[in-house]
Amino acid sequence: MSEPLLEVRGLSVEYGGSGLLQSRRESVHALCGVDIELAEGCSLGVVGESGCGKSTLARVVLGLVAPSAGAVRWRGWTVDTSARERMRQMRRELQVVFQDPFGSLDPRMTAGASVAEALDALEGVSDGPTVQARVVVAFESVGLDHGLASRYPHELSGGQCQRVAIARATVAHPKLLICDEAVSALDVSVQAQIVNLLAGLRQRQGIGLLFISHNLAVVRHLCDEVVVLYLGRVVERAPRDALFATPRHPYTRALLAAVPEPDPRLARRSPPDEPTGEVAPSAVPSAGCAFAPRCPHAVDACWHRQPSLEPAGDGAAVSCHRWRELSADT
Ligand SMILES: Nc1ncnc2c1ncn2[C@@H]1O[C@H](COP(=O)(O)OP(=O)(O)OP(=O)(O)O)[C@@H](O)[C@H]1O
Ligand SMILES: [Mg+2]
Repeated sequence: MSEPLLEVRGLSVEYGGSGLLQSRRESVHALCGVDIELAEGCSLGVVGESGCGKSTLARVVLGLVAPSAGAVRWRGWTVDTSARERMRQMRRELQVVFQDPFGSLDPRMTAGASVAEALDALEGVSDGPTVQARVVVAFESVGLDHGLASRYPHELSGGQCQRVAIARATVAHPKLLICDEAVSALDVSVQAQIVNLLAGLRQRQGIGLLFISHNLAVVRHLCDEVVVLYLGRVVERAPRDALFATPRHPYTRALLAAVPEPDPRLARRSPPDEPTGEVAPSAVPSAGCAFAPRCPHAVDACWHRQPSLEPAGDGAAVSCHRWRELSADT
């Protein structure tokens, strides 16, 4: 098998709680021992509720947050933020689109200048006619009329701004695009257009996607594989079809049960095990499963022993002591 584009191994991130001035603040374990892998041109979804560590994962991969343990490998190279030239090269190949379409663009720059600036920063291309030609192609590739290049962000709609942000991110032909809730702030109809645009970029240009979202319907449409995070840990990882057809972890089941099924014949019966409410990290058992306080199936072992992520058939892996019994019950 070819070398993965992105590999994350045993990644842990702890915010705060260390150093003299922070000693009285409780630290937050945003990620604990996370492993992910993404092959060239593939699309991996990362889902989970607010605060589970999705953006932290993106920030570590981008080299913006230092892990407290574990490593990120980009095309086989262990990311080292002190290796400036190699980091610059990685940034050309690894781009990001964030949630806020207006906030991600400089309000003082026209849409065209924004894309041209990215081209200069990433490839050092500043020669007028070449920049102009590349900007035209970038606008075309995201379905934007080039006439909008002279507009400022406040003169564009949210969807148009997000297209400009995607044009900026893809103008230098990255290998991977990290989308952190990139469609969440948009109207539903505009969301669908941007999702189709991303699917098209992947198909036409072979750009891989690390698609972070709490919207499972969108993830289902766009991703080959899905990782489910719960309080900083991977609780389930599975190929898309396996995850949506036979979710193994009680938390994944609860997430899927919350997604409206457009076809009533296929509508999943609301499971009796849907957890409610949020859990303060302090309520999480230190030795057991982080989901135990919300899990209706928790038994003694769940409170005292951390389940490991184990193979569960169909290419899936699950971290639950009881996944076999629960699968047999349904
Ligand atoms: N800079 C920071 N300092 C301290 N704690 C942080 C910081 N950034 C994030 N956290 C905490 O780390 C945990 C994970 O946050 P993160 O932003 O990665 O979650 P998320 O899954 O992206 O959430 P959302 O869906 O709301 O965007 C949360 O408990 C959050 O409060
Ligand atoms: Mg986030």
